[in-house]
Amino acid sequence: MIFAANFKTNHTRKSTREYLEVLTQKVVDSACKDAVYVFPPATALDRFETPIVIGAQNAYPTTNGAYTGEIGTEQLDEFGIKTILIGHSERREILHESQEIVAEKFAFFKERGFEIIYCIGEPLEVREQGDEAVIEYLLAQFEGIDTSYEKLIVAYEPIWAIGTGRSATVEEIASTHKALRQSVEKPLLYGGSAKPANIREIIGIDNVDGVLVGSASLDPESFFEMISA
Ligand code: 13P
Repeated sequence: MIFAANFKTNHTRKSTREYLEVLTQKVVDSACKDAVYVFPPATALDRFETPIVIGAQNAYPTTNGAYTGEIGTEQLDEFGIKTILIGHSERREILHESQEIVAEKFAFFKERGFEIIYCIGEPLEVREQGDEAVIEYLLAQFEGIDTSYEKLIVAYEPIWAIGTGRSATVEEIASTHKALRQSVEKPLLYGGSAKPANIREIIGIDNVDGVLVGSASLDPESFFEMISA
């Protein structure tokens, strides 16, 4: 199973280091065989002595240059970071990243051999139109994306389930992952209010290969409770 923690705009450089010390100890002591990823904010990226994969939540498709406020691969290379989240709904919705920009980022980081956790997810009004509309919407988010890329992991995160405390139901996750699996033969993560209380149920669903966790990952005890479930 894959357990990925997306800190979003939470944690500092100092608290990220403390977090990783705690989580690393638990992962090592438990001889954990799962793949564990942590995506801290850009300011907390660093080299860490840990078996946990550290990834970037975002970067601009450039090595360096004049892109005020952005980081490129030069800043990621400094810490040996070769994993990135692309297409998160918060970047699509709040930061207005179009499918074209998302696809451009994907091509850039693929070209450089990054492992990519590619996020897709539908808004509530699409979910309310039923399964067929959901799948159509999700498949459109693969436009311009090479779904055969060997280092691709897909994260299905229904927007209405993110940060709301309301996870998708087992049936909704099962049917969506089953349909996605027919188009994309890559590991499929679920994300959206995954937490210790529902993790067993979620990872028990067919075609779910792991979870991408926001809120419940911010405390290392809570995140490890999920990993060890
Ligand atoms: P929550 O776990 O807080 O719902 O966030 C999910 C998410 O967006 C992870 O990328």
